[in-house]
Amino acid sequence: MFSGAEPGAEGGRYRNKLGNTQSGMRILFIGDIVGSPGRQIVHDRLADILAQRQIDLVIANGENAASGFGITPRLADELLGMGIDVLTGGNHSWDRKEILDYMPHQPRLLRPGNFPEGTPGLGSFTGTAKNGVKYAVLNLQGRVFLTPIDDPFRKADAELAQLPADVAFVLVDIHAETTSEKIAMGWYLDGRVTAVVGTHTHVTTADERVLPQGTAYLTDVGMTGPHGGVIGMDREAIIKRFLDGLPARFEVASGDVQMNCVLIETDDAGERNAAGRLRARHIERLCFRIE
Ligand SMILES: [Fe+2]
Ligand SMILES: [Fe+2]
Repeated sequence: MFSGAEPGAEGGRYRNKLGNTQSGMRILFIGDIVGSPGRQIVHDRLADILAQRQIDLVIANGENAASGFGITPRLADELLGMGIDVLTGGNHSWDRKEILDYMPHQPRLLRPGNFPEGTPGLGSFTGTAKNGVKYAVLNLQGRVFLTPIDDPFRKADAELAQLPADVAFVLVDIHAETTSEKIAMGWYLDGRVTAVVGTHTHVTTADERVLPQGTAYLTDVGMTGPHGGVIGMDREAIIKRFLDGLPARFEVASGDVQMNCVLIETDDAGERNAAGRLRARHIERLCFRIE
């Protein structure tokens, strides 16, 4: 299950040279949760996954939780109550206006940090995971084929410079359209954060790896929701839109509900990265389906 586990591994926990049980921190990141099918599979499966895989921290992208467009205060509360520690966002974060007043009151619901000054909410959260490790989550949005907001690269620099020194684990959700912008961000932050994962395209990429300086990377985690349509929405309306180009109302699709995630394990016993954060030891894509 964990190819990085050393000999003598006990369910992924392993013993260090002193014979003490050394736990690599395990983080689950859940790709964009789309509509009620996406919320339902998280509700039905997450508790078992967390117990079976001894997960210390759960982060999920929730920008499509409300019928595919945005997230409401009630749905944010619901998802945060299911065992998700931090919800990230993206270009759809703003689709439901009622979320604007809620964001400042719920620091565990992020929106991309590189929206201009004065935008409601925050792009980063610092907390303590179940295993006692202090962590930070940073949410950024790309600019290629998306709204030309502030530079996500320089915003990453600014956010990382402000993190307290005792933050051991840092994950970045880069919400972007193009593979190139996300891969560039992965290289830009290699050795400075523990993980960079991509969201937004709703299609899983097969390029997970640990970069040379210890940063786990995946271009897109994929979607948590129905795969019987087009990136989560009903395929008939989308096909019609491609055929006639007319405005249309999109509904959430049905069928082949999947929960696409990535599991990252840290190397707690090894050297820290150049920025003093935990290095990633292993990254693995996971897909759970409703049969
Ligand atoms: Fe999305
Ligand atoms: Fe998006």
